[in-house]
Amino acid sequence: MLASTCLAGALAATAASAACTSGGVIKCPVVLSGQVPASMKLADFDTAATNKIFNAGNVKASNVPWSQILKFPNVTTNSRFDNASMKSVEVTIADSSIFKTQHGFRRAGLQMLGDTNTGGPGAVGVRTVHWSVQQDPARKLNLTHEYQNLWHETADYSANQFDFKMGTLLDRSSDRNAMKITNRKGEVVWSTPIEAAAWQNFAVTVDYQKNTLQVFYSKGLAPLKQVTAALPNDNSGEGQYQIGMLKKPTGTDDVVNSGYQESGIDEGQIYGGIFIEDSAGGCISL
Ligand SMILES: *[C@@H]1O[C@H](CO)[C@@H](O)[C@H](O)[C@H]1NC(C)=O
Ligand SMILES: *[C@@H]1O[C@H](CO)[C@@H](O)[C@H](O)[C@H]1NC(C)=O
Ligand SMILES: *[C@@H]1O[C@H](CO)[C@@H](O)[C@H](O)[C@H]1NC(C)=O
Repeated sequence: MLASTCLAGALAATAASAACTSGGVIKCPVVLSGQVPASMKLADFDTAATNKIFNAGNVKASNVPWSQILKFPNVTTNSRFDNASMKSVEVTIADSSIFKTQHGFRRAGLQMLGDTNTGGPGAVGVRTVHWSVQQDPARKLNLTHEYQNLWHETADYSANQFDFKMGTLLDRSSDRNAMKITNRKGEVVWSTPIEAAAWQNFAVTVDYQKNTLQVFYSKGLAPLKQVTAALPNDNSGEGQYQIGMLKKPTGTDDVVNSGYQESGIDEGQIYGGIFIEDSAGGCISL
């Protein structure tokens, strides 16, 4: 399993084996995990009894089961922090991806089990949120729209402490072809081009005590590097992480409820290596 996962990669065999055996090691205590076991089946995501990593009910259209929203993608290598016991998962959206009465959005978002809106382990102390993404050539995003792909939203749903976005931001000018990390004010603190066919690995350290945000990044299987300083940010308000796809409409001031979405949507984002570690004392897995 490990050999085939690694050697199927586009890299030369020797480079591939080296990269695979020196893949990312998680060195700090994991407080929440969204790493998908290799043995997990799509149907397992549908019920709480078999889905031990994510909320089986939310956040998605109530009449569409996760087994129809999620896919196991054809990636040639696991992402940096996913070893041979784990696999990648793709979150997709379609015309039916309407959560409750939010007719403006097309959305499907995973929430890690144990990530409660208040009093949970994800929004205290110093936490580093890890994730990797890769694009699916058969399910490309339409970058005329704004996408929110991963974020931490306050418990009263009034703000996001930070966001991971793609496409055309509605509230400011930006490079639509870039992945962007935004702060609570919606300002872009760091961005990097969307790669057509490579893992892009992110870590954001959210210091809930000192109120700072710091971004780490790498491409492919390379170790993460610090790409911003610890920037001031209002991290108050607790809340939860969400991981997936939220496509905003165009042509409206009321993005939640109205606006334009084309029909025939079939878009996705491939995720791997989702976990939150305790970065107390400066610990971080690179
Ligand atoms: C993976 O590739 C197979 C064969 O081409 C295809 O049938 C399947 O739909 C692909 N999976 C995804 C998630 O795109
Ligand atoms: C993968 O990592 C997990 C947790 O970090 C560990 O329990 C498991 O033994 C590892 N599996 C392999 C095949 O290395
Ligand atoms: C992208 O979205 C815009 C705005 O909704 C739409 O006009 C356009 O047709 C879409 N492009 C593609 C390639 O789907």
